[in-house]
Amino acid sequence: MALFSFSPADYVDAFNKNGYVHIKNGVNLENLAYIQAKTKELTADQNDLKEWEFKGKKQQYLFDFPAEWNFPEAIFQPLASVASMPYETFTMCERHIKVYDKSAKPSVPPHKDRVAAELTVGIPLFMPEGSESHLVLWPNDALDVNPLNTTALWRSSLDEKDLPENRLAGIEPVRVYTEPGDVIMFRGSSIYHEREYPADTALLYLKFNAMRLDPLNEDPSTGLQEALSLKNLSEKTDDELLDCTVEVSPKLYRISRHYTRLHWKEVVQAYVTDEKEFNISEFELSIFKAAENKRSVREIIARLGIPGPEAINHVPTFRRLGALKGLHFI
Ligand SMILES: [Fe+2]
Repeated sequence: MALFSFSPADYVDAFNKNGYVHIKNGVNLENLAYIQAKTKELTADQNDLKEWEFKGKKQQYLFDFPAEWNFPEAIFQPLASVASMPYETFTMCERHIKVYDKSAKPSVPPHKDRVAAELTVGIPLFMPEGSESHLVLWPNDALDVNPLNTTALWRSSLDEKDLPENRLAGIEPVRVYTEPGDVIMFRGSSIYHEREYPADTALLYLKFNAMRLDPLNEDPSTGLQEALSLKNLSEKTDDELLDCTVEVSPKLYRISRHYTRLHWKEVVQAYVTDEKEFNISEFELSIFKAAENKRSVREIIARLGIPGPEAINHVPTFRRLGALKGLHFI
């Protein structure tokens, strides 16, 4: 059975207008029961993602979609439609079950999700009897996108006056009271939000973007594409690679220019999830910029102003970036 029971067309206008939408009973009950049972299992095993645990706030578990739910199409398509995001580049970047602690504070300052969470989807799973647990949102104020890879980095990048508790002071939030089986969708990287009175509640959080970014390596297609890329690299000749399409790895989440203490000598480094960072040249940086949309190696080289007959000389550079898993040959 499909996870969602709603008709996307009914919610497109509301999402576009408000930046969020609350879909009552948007999940099929059978699927909800499956996720709830899975949550109980995971909680019993304490099989949490230790790395992502927020001490005293919540525990998180990775949720795997059963094959019979027709993942990803039946999950991605309705969500992309409601949010008017292109399905071709629609990428999942989180699929976590979150269980809030008994001792979770009733109220903390609101936050924005990481840059990859252009669209955040919450599906409440459990809520204690009489719980006041609800989502607060500021869909009309301070909507600049968090360009950074975590919520914490966004907060630490702000001046005192720009902290959400100061910037949003006196502005009443929208309060969304959701029940298990509802679906709440909002622009997570731009809208300030938080869950109030979350103690003992559990939700499935799914997060998406249309920029092919998967910094936690949670979209199952990311690993498959990486494996295909390494296979292409080992099997194809340089000539064949020229006509191969490449894209920046969804796991390449940052390129940084450092000024080192060696007389502020510059170093440019690329960061790929689960890999060691590596140095890149200015030419390689220009390759990543040109490869943001899927293009062939030949086309990227032409865009960088290199004459056609010389293209073949640059294939080894592309090979290096592919072997370091920063560039995917697909
Ligand atoms: Fe969030």
